[in-house]
Amino acid sequence: MSGASGVSAGSYDPATTTAGGLSGELARLEAQAELSFDEELRVLRDVGVPAPLLELGAGSGAITRRLRAALPDLPIVAADIDTALLAHAADARVPLMGCDAVRLPLADGVVGTVLLRYVLQHVADPAAVVAEALRVLRPGGRLVVIEVDSMLWGLADPMYPELAGVHGRMAGAQRQAGGDRLIGRKLTRILRRAGFREVVLRPFATTNDDRPTEAFAPHMGPERLAPLVASGALSLPELALAADRWRRFRADPDAWVMLLGLVVAGTAPGGPAESERSTS
Ligand SMILES: C[S@@+](CC[C@H](N)C(=O)[O-])C[C@H]1O[C@@H](n2cnc3c(N)ncnc32)[C@H](O)[C@@H]1O
Repeated sequence: MSGASGVSAGSYDPATTTAGGLSGELARLEAQAELSFDEELRVLRDVGVPAPLLELGAGSGAITRRLRAALPDLPIVAADIDTALLAHAADARVPLMGCDAVRLPLADGVVGTVLLRYVLQHVADPAAVVAEALRVLRPGGRLVVIEVDSMLWGLADPMYPELAGVHGRMAGAQRQAGGDRLIGRKLTRILRRAGFREVVLRPFATTNDDRPTEAFAPHMGPERLAPLVASGALSLPELALAADRWRRFRADPDAWVMLLGLVVAGTAPGGPAESERSTS
């Protein structure tokens, strides 16, 4: 699928990801980052982010801007295959690099951390991206992957079993476009097979106990499903059903939602921690 620059960004096309075209998607990426960044940052601090950080598939910079504000001393470079989308990250005031994640214009071993947030679910060959990340990481450097698994998206109460097929259709459409919304369950194995050490899984949860229910709209609202009607993957009555259940959910003062995200981190072999351990 082609992004705003006409380049292939795998199953991701910002013009058709949500209702409202590109501007709708820019708003969705921003709202999505706003919703869970605090939890993600807590996990990032926990697993460690050695400098410099390469944010690969940074998109419009929704996370870049927040990382820059939260970790002002950390040098960051933002990269993406879609240079038109990446141009929206200019106000993050970090160097921007237009490139394909499988062919980075960087020498071996020059990066401290590679961050891949919601990128691997869109690429045809996630293992190739992870291998390229390992190539540019210095020994002891960290790869941090933030992803979802569509069968582990979270919990809602009340739940609407009648929507299961609708969400399955979204995963199916992404699969047809070459992506994989079941990537979450594969990540630790992909990183280990690539040669990463100390591979850990750190799930994080975001709930409407401490966020307004409305803030979950990027994940639960019907906007994300609207383009599927245009592509024929979803019927209009199914979209109307999803919109009605979201309206009911938002109007219910007792409704509860927990969104689950997955962070998988691994360490590039040969770093100081590893050699210290092997000599002790
Ligand atoms: C869902 S967006 C996520 C953007 C950003 N990481 C965030 O969390 O807001 C996926 C991003 O991955 C980028 N992408 C997809 N395939 C890529 C590739 N082969 N090389 C570099 N970037 C890629 C897309 O252009 C898009 O910006």
